[in-house]
Amino acid sequence: MKVTVVGAGNVGSTCANVLAHNEIANEIVLLDIKEGVAEGKALDMWETSPVNMYDSRIVGSTNDYSKTAGSEVVVITSGIPRKPGMSRDDLIATNAGIVKSVTENVVKHSPDAKIIIVSNPLDVMCYTAYLSAKVDKSRVMGMAGVLDTARYRSFLAMELNVSPKDIQALLMGGHGDTMVPLPRYTTVGGIPVTELIDPAKLDEIIERTKFGGGEIVKLLGTSAWYAPGAAAAQMVEAIVKDQKRVLPVCSWLEGEYGQNGIYLGVPVVLGKNGIEKILEVKLNDAEQALLDESAAAVRNVMGVLDGMNVL
Ligand code: LAC
Repeated sequence: MKVTVVGAGNVGSTCANVLAHNEIANEIVLLDIKEGVAEGKALDMWETSPVNMYDSRIVGSTNDYSKTAGSEVVVITSGIPRKPGMSRDDLIATNAGIVKSVTENVVKHSPDAKIIIVSNPLDVMCYTAYLSAKVDKSRVMGMAGVLDTARYRSFLAMELNVSPKDIQALLMGGHGDTMVPLPRYTTVGGIPVTELIDPAKLDEIIERTKFGGGEIVKLLGTSAWYAPGAAAAQMVEAIVKDQKRVLPVCSWLEGEYGQNGIYLGVPVVLGKNGIEKILEVKLNDAEQALLDESAAAVRNVMGVLDGMNVL
């Protein structure tokens, strides 16, 4: 079982490291355009194997896609990250060209791969990859919901002083400030979260979640990597082990939730075939309005991309 991670920056290398530590794949290929970076990081990681007791092989390569051939899953993290003051959408011009060419190379060498996009602006980079890959929609998806719900769940765990393991949550929409955390679908050990926390505090946590990526950018001067890398690795695991996990995944919608021809985060069943099913839960009017608003924001960026002649 072979998994490729394209982009050996912070997110890509963290993802590869988690994949190796947890022995999620027995062969992990890390690829980057910068001479020696992927090889160096892969070698450094491999040298932890006797200490951390794993035997997943990790190899690095400078842009040699033949090394990625036959990958079951490919995670694409390529592109520039945000700097303070930038929104994810500010990255579009640079990252769309990168994601397009990376995707084409990936598909050439691994025509059956499931492709997980992590590059920002996430939803529109999924759209870019989907148009470039020309494969079934079930095989091109984005990592955002796992990260955003992880942030939401971690904030709730801190507030309630309970284990984050016991917090289950659903969050939908785009990976931007219009994302839609859903308190009605959030539980703590099976108890609806609304029973345990006052509404004002919950609203505060929802707001913090929406700007969770920006909070890290402000602190670090660049975007996050531990949680994004681990979140992408969890999606890889669901696919390579055919776990049928129910996770929020950025998916191509064709009418689900009243949205057509757009990538948005929705709950799915993730298994060996990629997105095996989109789960359609009932939203109330207020929740649907928030989702529509988030979709409008994503469509706006899709429009900018369509006008740029990159694709
Ligand atoms: C974040 C970036 C990875 O949310 O989009 O931290």
